[in-house]
Amino acid sequence: MKIKNICCIGAGYVGGPTMSIIAQKNPNIKVNVVDMNSDKIAAWNSKNLENLPVYEPGLTKVVKATRGKNLFFSSDIEKHINDADMIFISVNTPTKSSGEGKGYAADLRYVEACAKQIAEVSKTDKIVVEKSTVPVRTSDKIKEILKLYNCSVDFQILSNPEFLAEGTAMRDLEIPDRVLIGGDNTPSGKAAIDSLVEIYSSWVPKKNILTTNLWSSELSKLTANAFLAQRISSINSLSELCEATGADIEEVSKAIGMDSRVGSSFLKTSVGFGGSCFQKDILNLVYIARSLKLNKVADYWEQILIINTHQRNRFSHKIMNCIHKNNLKDKILLLGWAFKKNTNDSRESAAIYIAKNLLSNGVKIDIYDPRVDENQIINDLSLFESNFKINNVNVIKEPFKNIKKYNLIAIATEWDEFIYYDWNDIFKKIKKPAFIFDGRNILNKDQIEMIGFNYFSLGR
Ligand code: NAD
Ligand code: UGA
Repeated sequence: MKIKNICCIGAGYVGGPTMSIIAQKNPNIKVNVVDMNSDKIAAWNSKNLENLPVYEPGLTKVVKATRGKNLFFSSDIEKHINDADMIFISVNTPTKSSGEGKGYAADLRYVEACAKQIAEVSKTDKIVVEKSTVPVRTSDKIKEILKLYNCSVDFQILSNPEFLAEGTAMRDLEIPDRVLIGGDNTPSGKAAIDSLVEIYSSWVPKKNILTTNLWSSELSKLTANAFLAQRISSINSLSELCEATGADIEEVSKAIGMDSRVGSSFLKTSVGFGGSCFQKDILNLVYIARSLKLNKVADYWEQILIINTHQRNRFSHKIMNCIHKNNLKDKILLLGWAFKKNTNDSRESAAIYIAKNLLSNGVKIDIYDPRVDENQIINDLSLFESNFKINNVNVIKEPFKNIKKYNLIAIATEWDEFIYYDWNDIFKKIKKPAFIFDGRNILNKDQIEMIGFNYFSLGR
């Protein structure tokens, strides 16, 4: 089937950027991105491109070139489902917060609601593409729902998981390592796969487009994330060992990564990984393994999360020890709230946990992030700490306006601007003794210590 009209349900961090690139690379296809959150749709339609709901380097340029031509953002979900030949489901799949599998399993209610709505609205045959990250065999559930609510049109289901990372999403979409497409091994299943391959072929070399069966595709996505997170927890566990032995984690990481069999990516020690996916996807993998009575497999993957929590707590405890030992009474400055640089996304950010740990010990904090807005920060804190005292937190727009009031600066996100601050000048103005806790190892240890700071980083 030659695709002329696409509908993407879910205008979030995946739906927005992914569809912008598909529209840009396929000017003859009309792409409608729909969402039940009308504020988000309004933000995607903002005249001022600075107000798009997702911050990603390079995104505004692509939206500017395509919006209103063949890319549209709309709240009219039913119309665009019905008009489409191909529908992407790109909605959130968070961890279940109640019921069976609470705290581990993926909550598929949004995916299932989409399937039901697609079935109820469709009057012509459709290809339904699972873009959200889902447990293996979710495609079966989607098929069942589609059949249950509509047996008069043909639905082909494809799995096309997304591998973009926030902060580099546009580059990842433009030059993906691979595009993965799973489908049924039937003539109509293969035809559906071909339709999606054709869309990606507009800019992705054929050798990078991998086709598999549905379940392999679903499981590959979950496990790819688990592999990446496993590397971070491995290096973070070694950072503690380095501190206990006098080795330097940056040197160890370089030495390990230069082995071409290992590779250097995802070996940067940190205060713990965050983001909306690593934790939820590993919890989901653990749940699947436990449900299949593969307890040793489940325990193996769960250990990644245990180390991640330990790393966040370890960092906060070090700050608390410093505050007590030096009898520091004033506020501290927390630099960074996003879960990584170059995004406005703070979901599961390590900064939230650090702030929560500090606040629960009565510490007052000023928080600065270049991209996460104040409402989001306060909202993140209220969700995690029901009785946190709003008076103990200040979200600031100029990080060094109150510099005379702090003894201690903690860095939670690796934003480039933090590296390039004038640390000499900051040292002149900050209260003494002055401490920096660098949760990302972004500053030059020797230079910072030479300036006069007491500098604490990870694993060195
Ligand atoms: P998101 O929360 O940013 O966006 C999801 C959107 O779906 C929301 O705007 C929500 O309002 C909308 N939505 C939910 N149910 C709906 C419905 N029934 N009808 C219409 N709209 C609905 O989520 P995201 O970060 O874009 O992630 C989406 C999926 O992609 C998840 O499964 C995630 O695991 C996966 N994923 C995310 C990333 C990432 O970097 N964020 C990368 C790869 C894969
Ligand atoms: C991750 C994967 O990299 C994507 O391939 C995947 O599509 C996505 O999850 C998803 O499924 O949501 P993302 O979470 O956006 O992407 O960003 P990453 O670059 O993977 O970083 C995740 C966290 O790990 C961040 O907090 C980052 O600071 C941390 N990290 C990353 C480290 O601590 N050390 C590293 O070496 C790399």
